[in-house]
Amino acid sequence: MAGFLDQIEPLKQAALTELRAAGDLAALEQARVNYLGSHGKFTALLKQLGSLSKEEKPAAGKAVNVAKVELEAALVERRSELELKAALPQEPTDFTLPGRRRPLGKLHPLTQATEDIVRSFRKIGFVVADGPEVEDEYHCFDALNTPADHPARDMQDTFYVANRPPNPESSIQNPESSIPSTLLRTHTSSVQIRVMEKQQPPVRIIVPGRVYRRDNADATHNPTFHQVEGLYVDRNVTVGDLKGTVEFVFKELMGSETRIRFRPHYFSYTEPSFEIDFSSPLTRKMGKEWLEIAGCGMVHPQVFENVGYDPETWSGWAFGFGIERIAMIRYGINDIRLFYENDLRFLKQF
Ligand code: DAH
Repeated sequence: MAGFLDQIEPLKQAALTELRAAGDLAALEQARVNYLGSHGKFTALLKQLGSLSKEEKPAAGKAVNVAKVELEAALVERRSELELKAALPQEPTDFTLPGRRRPLGKLHPLTQATEDIVRSFRKIGFVVADGPEVEDEYHCFDALNTPADHPARDMQDTFYVANRPPNPESSIQNPESSIPSTLLRTHTSSVQIRVMEKQQPPVRIIVPGRVYRRDNADATHNPTFHQVEGLYVDRNVTVGDLKGTVEFVFKELMGSETRIRFRPHYFSYTEPSFEIDFSSPLTRKMGKEWLEIAGCGMVHPQVFENVGYDPETWSGWAFGFGIERIAMIRYGINDIRLFYENDLRFLKQF
């Protein structure tokens, strides 16, 4: 018994020395195997317990276990020291190296163009209105006086949403029709109706937003793009107000040398209707004197009737144009698809 107890302390000291001296994790593992592994020296001592007498065992067992706990604690401590050391950089840190810059993000060119458009209109008292992109046929077409056989309503031209109950207000809803009445809005004009349904005149809104058409993507088309709609309703509103407003905004957006002209056109929700062309150093750079940029007109009396405004009392104008087109002309971009690719080499230029 005395012999057994006498062996514990020197063996423990030898083990502690070796564990603490281990210079790396591999050496530490070797030291652990040497003492605490299944054929280790300390494990061998533990195994000798079995041969002691019944009286000797409790004291010897206690002493040897206290030593074992101490060795295991030393092992854990040294292991965490060595792990920390392994994780630290091998080379000394050079504090004179330049810092790592975090590149500052930028607004997307379409967002920049939209914000500029909104800012110009705010100066003259317009507020931003919003409406749903998943729209019903009534707000997108019927309420805007767009007839049931208009090509814009064709399955080939518009994204219809399947499995929605037909809208009871839609003019094309009939038992034979298989066309569902919910769709992705083809223009922001639907928001004119939504706003007029909710408020009485005067109305002065602009509506930037995303729209959808079944176009194949090419340099000038994309199945989703952005528009800005404008609507002004009050007493005695004239085409002159429309022209003055459009001219003010386009001069702000495209430079003070910008000129605009109106050409007669047809839209079912305005009468008379016009297309707006503009001319500026930017259009000349593109090899053209005049570029078509927007549609507009005086709000059709039927549209007022549809929202419960008295067309004898109220008059107004509306317009709509594509934001991509504005941004392309402003920045000299020749392919609309570049806006949607999220290529930083492109985006960083604006
Ligand atoms: N909604 C038309 C389009 O998508 C643009 C437009 C034309 C809007 C005339 C209007 C308008 O408000 O009066 O091409």
